[in-house]
Amino acid sequence: MTEDRCKRFSQRYADGDMPWDTGITPPEIIDILAELSPGTALDLGCGTGTVIRDLLEAGWGADGVDYVDRAISLASEKLRSYPIHRYQLFCHDVTKLDALTALRAPYDLIIDIGCGHSIAAPATADYARAIAERLKSGGTFMLYASHPRPDSTVGWAPRDVRAMFTPFLELVWHQQGTDSAIGAASSWYRMRKA
Ligand SMILES: C[S@@+](CC[C@H](N)C(=O)[O-])C[C@H]1O[C@@H](n2cnc3c(N)ncnc32)[C@H](O)[C@@H]1O
Repeated sequence: MTEDRCKRFSQRYADGDMPWDTGITPPEIIDILAELSPGTALDLGCGTGTVIRDLLEAGWGADGVDYVDRAISLASEKLRSYPIHRYQLFCHDVTKLDALTALRAPYDLIIDIGCGHSIAAPATADYARAIAERLKSGGTFMLYASHPRPDSTVGWAPRDVRAMFTPFLELVWHQQGTDSAIGAASSWYRMRKA
């Protein structure tokens, strides 16, 4: 299943079919960067590195993980003017973070914009645990996930997100909206590790 999905994402990058790749960091993340003092961040499913670029601009150190090598090479290109010690990029499956020992965990901030919601149960429980383990105490997790819809296997319902993450993290806020790229319901979540 993960391999099939990775192949599909790879094909979309090869075809240039990436409607999510707007080159703009979402305002929900910009607001968090304005609020928090710079530290270290991890972007899961980092795509072409737009959020990492803006983290670096805001004075953060940042690591990014994506399992599509084309995404990682586009991200490397985007970030090449920044000092290499300030960021790391990994071509790796986010459901296998335990094998990624070079991550600079624990992080002050972990971000998942449209990545984890393609992971299905039972792997979701391990994903939530792995994120919580890599956050500092008091650290922030920002999640953007579309809601399930009949024509797609992707999507997490808000009640499932709560069930998945609240054993490890507290939910600070949840904001529901519409993903204009797919015309479907989606949500932002801000969580915190106690
Ligand atoms: C919808 S795109 C969003 C990309 C980026 N976060 C953004 O907002 O521009 C989802 C990204 O997650 C990556 N992805 C999905 N599942 C993944 C997994 N299990 N491991 C690593 N990357 C994954 C895809 O390759 C893709 O780049």
